[in-house]
Amino acid sequence: MKKIISLILAAALCIFVFAACGTDSAENGADKKVLTMATNAEFPPYEFYEGDKVVGIDAEIAAVIAEKLGMELEIVDTAFDSIIPAIVAGKYDMGMAGMTVTEERLEEVNFSDSYATGVQVVIVKEGSEITTVDDLTGDKKYTIGVQTGTTGDLYSTWDIEDEGLGTVSRFNKGADAVEALKIGKVDCVIIDNEPAKAFVAESEGLKILDTAYAEEQYAVAVSKENPELLENINKALAELTADGTLQKIVDKYIKAE
Ligand code: ARG
Repeated sequence: MKKIISLILAAALCIFVFAACGTDSAENGADKKVLTMATNAEFPPYEFYEGDKVVGIDAEIAAVIAEKLGMELEIVDTAFDSIIPAIVAGKYDMGMAGMTVTEERLEEVNFSDSYATGVQVVIVKEGSEITTVDDLTGDKKYTIGVQTGTTGDLYSTWDIEDEGLGTVSRFNKGADAVEALKIGKVDCVIIDNEPAKAFVAESEGLKILDTAYAEEQYAVAVSKENPELLENINKALAELTADGTLQKIVDKYIKAE
């Protein structure tokens, strides 16, 4: 008898577990298709960690895009210079990383319509003898800190290092380049204006030069093999721009000066 009861109990438990799993997966949207976004979460206010969660402008825009596509967003944090190769390889659906549209990148991936403007700026120590961007291509040679593979890296490599006018020092993270500046290992850092502001606000004795290095457009990178996704992202971006959602997200992270 005891045996029978425990058998029945075991069977009941099985059914219960099954049922639980069933509802669970439906509620979690496990049947929803996943939209994978590759980023490099070292770039406030576009992507950075809050606890163990990647937040920021890109993360929030991606979340509403995914919602519009009826998909579930999964954010993958990776090295900045590995994002495009991974998208080309079909490892992730899209790249959102405050990523600038450039001619070179357009040869490898497609870009959505632009959703933000970025400006490459120069961070120096307070009292630095570098006072304008032109000083970087002047008679004196300087060491310039950048994040590997970013436009700050590309431009300073072409304009300064390749011309024999100075040296480029490359770091995995923008924040590491800024640390190097603080301890005098580099003379300046070239990086996008919003992270620059965030990094300068966190440290004493740094400032951003008034003259900018370059202005550029941020967009979502998508594999050339996936024109349908690109079209859907553009459609979603247009709707989010029209109904003010995009601006609301930006305003949440970038306070007007
Ligand atoms: N806008 C620059 C570029 O596209 C820097 C982007 C860096 N982004 C990041 N998430 N670390 O090259």
